[in-house]
Amino acid sequence: MASRNRSKTLFLHILFYMASTSAEETYENSTNICQRCSCNNDAQIFELDCSNQSLTLMLANWPTQKPIKATFTGNNFTKLEKLPPTQSSVEIVLSKCNIQSLDPAVFDTAPKTKLVDLSYNLLVSEEVTSDKFRGPIKDNRPQPIGIEDLNLAYNQIHSLNKDVFEFLPNLTRLNLEGNDFRVLDAHTQLALANVPGLTSFNLANNELTDLIPDAIEKLTKLVELDLSKNDLDFVPHSLEEVGTSLQVLIVDDNPIFEMTEKTFSKLPNIVEISANNLTLLTRINASTFASNLKLTKLSLRNNTALRAIDPAAFSPQSTLKELHLDNTNLTDLLVGLLNWTSLDSLTLHGTNLTCTCDLYHIFAATPNEDPPTCADPSSPARHHIPLTSDVCEVKQIVRIRYQHISIPLAGLIVTLFVAILAAIAMAYSRYRRFVQQSRQTPFASQVMYSPLLAAYSR
Ligand SMILES: *[C@@H]1O[C@H](CO)[C@@H](O)[C@H](O)[C@H]1NC(C)=O
Ligand SMILES: *[C@@H]1O[C@H](CO)[C@@H](O)[C@H](O)[C@H]1NC(C)=O
Ligand SMILES: *[C@@H]1O[C@H](CO)[C@@H](O)[C@H](O)[C@H]1NC(C)=O
Ligand SMILES: *[C@@H]1O[C@H](CO)[C@@H](O)[C@H](O)[C@H]1NC(C)=O
Ligand SMILES: *[C@@H]1O[C@H](CO)[C@@H](O)[C@H](O)[C@H]1NC(C)=O
Ligand SMILES: *[C@@H]1O[C@H](CO)[C@@H](O)[C@H](O)[C@H]1NC(C)=O
Ligand SMILES: *[C@@H]1O[C@H](CO)[C@@H](O)[C@H](O)[C@H]1NC(C)=O
Ligand SMILES: *[C@@H]1O[C@H](CO)[C@@H](O)[C@H](O)[C@H]1NC(C)=O
Ligand SMILES: *[C@@H]1O[C@H](CO)[C@@H](O)[C@H](O)[C@H]1NC(C)=O
Ligand SMILES: *[C@@H]1O[C@H](CO)[C@@H](O)[C@H](O)[C@H]1NC(C)=O
Repeated sequence: MASRNRSKTLFLHILFYMASTSAEETYENSTNICQRCSCNNDAQIFELDCSNQSLTLMLANWPTQKPIKATFTGNNFTKLEKLPPTQSSVEIVLSKCNIQSLDPAVFDTAPKTKLVDLSYNLLVSEEVTSDKFRGPIKDNRPQPIGIEDLNLAYNQIHSLNKDVFEFLPNLTRLNLEGNDFRVLDAHTQLALANVPGLTSFNLANNELTDLIPDAIEKLTKLVELDLSKNDLDFVPHSLEEVGTSLQVLIVDDNPIFEMTEKTFSKLPNIVEISANNLTLLTRINASTFASNLKLTKLSLRNNTALRAIDPAAFSPQSTLKELHLDNTNLTDLLVGLLNWTSLDSLTLHGTNLTCTCDLYHIFAATPNEDPPTCADPSSPARHHIPLTSDVCEVKQIVRIRYQHISIPLAGLIVTLFVAILAAIAMAYSRYRRFVQQSRQTPFASQVMYSPLLAAYSR
């Protein structure tokens, strides 16, 4: 009996030991957390910075009940546990924490969490579910939580679970940059249909070749969309689905090769277009920006093959304020392209311009910018010279002397030349005949040659 009792107590001891150690291991002792992490309690918001602390466990408690901004970048959580409980609002950064999985309802202890940054972790599609992103259960039903800004950039997600955002009614910003999306499949489309309040959506650095209309048709409040670093050949036509709300579009770093009348035609409220580093884009066709009357900022940097912008690319009513054409293959700009006086900023660094009178007038009209140096078109070596009004005088002479002798004019000159030659040849042969005839008559040497007389004398 005694031995049985002893083994029983031992067993209980072991049980207790296990329970207590697992309780200890579950959460990081946060009693003196401000000695380990940096705390800033000066403002309305308590700032806690626990970056690079080799934490493997979440804190047991917050050091405050104030609204919190906590940074845990560069720890090693592997499996993310529930946040310390609070009823205050929380912004939490859990970037680069080696997170592979999330506890169920990981944020339900802090239902007023507003911002969650889980970028640069190891989350796969299956791990990102509505069961993780939900509030506490009440009356047998999961409650919503107030997350507004969710950053899942640089994980390993290729598809969203269809109900992942079911309990995130206030989500306005979603970042999926640097994941593995090739297409936005049916499940992803259903998931996005659950977040009609989204205003900012980042899909940069995936492998998208198109954007399916069904994926974004419910995003009627979308203001900003980042599609940079994908495999898009075109600016997606589906953007018309969000055309009334979209104000900022970023399509940098795509193999987009043309911009035409149709490219941005369904985006009447667009304010800013960033289209940098489109290495396959060679020209911008007529009316490309004709319907974008609110376009204020246009960036076309690093489009190294871009060598022509159609003179009618913009609407005459364009109110563009900023235009960036650095590092393009353009050699000239036409003064009729835009109302340059309304421009605040025009940059052309690294673009090898030829000095033209148009360019002079453009820079004369945009007083905020110093005129660039440009290649002197009249020097064979194309020396770089400052852009001055001289170019407008030189241009006329250069034109007439060397350049644009038009085909009709050249034709006329050749025809005239041939006609004169022919006339001389004819006149000469008639003169010879006349001389031969007049040798047989007296006073011939006194008769002056005249083609008219020669004709009469026949
Ligand atoms: C946490 O650490 C403090 C001292 O730093 C200690 O007094 C306290 O008992 C610890 N709490 C737990 C739950 O271990
Ligand atoms: C954390 O560590 C990384 C890499 O060691 C370093 O780049 C980063 O600046 C550190 N962050 C902080 C807040 O100390
Ligand atoms: C992170 O923790 C896991 C175990 O939880 C460990 O295997 C791994 O080596 C740790 N990584 C770093 C960088 O400390
Ligand atoms: C969503 O936002 C509204 C308005 O700010 C707020 O009343 C509501 O409580 C929020 N929902 C959740 C689940 O926090
Ligand atoms: C430009 O885009 C190409 C691929 O489209 C990429 O390889 C390159 O790194 C990008 N360059 C810059 C400066 O972003
Ligand atoms: C763009 O303009 C060029 C030259 O005017 C023309 O050859 C081309 O067909 C145009 N492309 C489209 C799609 O309109
Ligand atoms: C343009 O290219 C240069 C060099 O490749 C790069 O440093 C710069 O960040 C690029 N700018 C943009 C806006 O893509
Ligand atoms: C720039 O234009 C010239 C001809 O005007 C062409 O030879 C060159 O290949 C173009 N550069 C690029 C990067 O396309
Ligand atoms: C401008 O000319 C320089 C020197 O000839 C060249 O290295 C550079 O690539 C050119 N820039 C562009 C955008 O073509
Ligand atoms: C050009 O822009 C200036 C400044 O915004 C404005 O005063 C002027 O009326 C515009 N000219 C035309 C022709 O639209």
